[in-house]
Amino acid sequence: MAEVAEVMLWEEDRAMPPDELRSWIPTADGLFCMLTDRVDRQLLEAAPRLRVISQMAVGVDNIDLAACRALRIPVGHTPDVLTETTADTAFALLAASVRRIVEGVDYVRAGRWQRWEPDLLLGGDLHGTTIGIVGLGRIGQAVARRAAGFGMKILYTARAERPPAAVLGAEFRSLPGLLAESDHVILTVALTPDTHHLIDRRALAQMRPSATLVNVSRGAIIDQAALAEALGAGVIAAAALDVTDPEPIDPDDPLLRMERCIVIPHLGSASLGTRRAMAELAVANLLAGLAGRPLPHQAG
Ligand code: GLV
Ligand code: GLV
Repeated sequence: MAEVAEVMLWEEDRAMPPDELRSWIPTADGLFCMLTDRVDRQLLEAAPRLRVISQMAVGVDNIDLAACRALRIPVGHTPDVLTETTADTAFALLAASVRRIVEGVDYVRAGRWQRWEPDLLLGGDLHGTTIGIVGLGRIGQAVARRAAGFGMKILYTARAERPPAAVLGAEFRSLPGLLAESDHVILTVALTPDTHHLIDRRALAQMRPSATLVNVSRGAIIDQAALAEALGAGVIAAAALDVTDPEPIDPDDPLLRMERCIVIPHLGSASLGTRRAMAELAVANLLAGLAGRPLPHQAG
């Protein structure tokens, strides 16, 4: 970027405060941002020169796309390059939760491992179970490919049923149908006003008491207070969250005290190779926008 533009770089080891971004934006022709930056109408109104926004993430729910469209500012994002890594993370979380890996590690580290016991930390299985994928987009389909390798029955729900070839033998269900039938529910749906708190108290009550809930999309898909209640009351068995609402999660959140809940700090795409590919794609999007060319990957 420094070869074609003067770069103002936020180098502090924390997300850029909104006020700081507002003071930088009036002279900016392009914005390279993260999912922690709120790009709303107010910010855009303070940005008379802005010709392109490039976010180093696939999800762009932090950006007011309608306002960008009205101002004809293209928004770049980074799909595809992170699909497989994020699906790997979803499966790692699922396996860790179902096979109680984190509890096992804690148990050994605490010096509590005395002997092999036939009923120590018994969990569920992955093989031969039913997985329900909410949102069969790029990442959802990559999760389905992994589930097929584990011999799982695969269900999905989406706005519309997909042609069979796209879904690896996955069967379409309504959300309530999927929740009732699945041993594991994986959330890969984008956050929009329609999916905000999609998994609320009522949805949790439709799940199986033995079920595991995995979220690799955005924290606000789940009503987190309702999830804590459901786990506490045994409405579902376990949860594994890559994302929370807010981020970071409050250290006093009851979810962090629950044995069958694991939370990691939004690491879905966090492999070295994938983060490099995301950075390169986000730079390509930004440079295309500055040059007035179509972005390689435009979100809106
Ligand atoms: C990460 O959550 C992303 O949207 O890329
Ligand atoms: C377990 O290690 C077994 O041998 O069954």
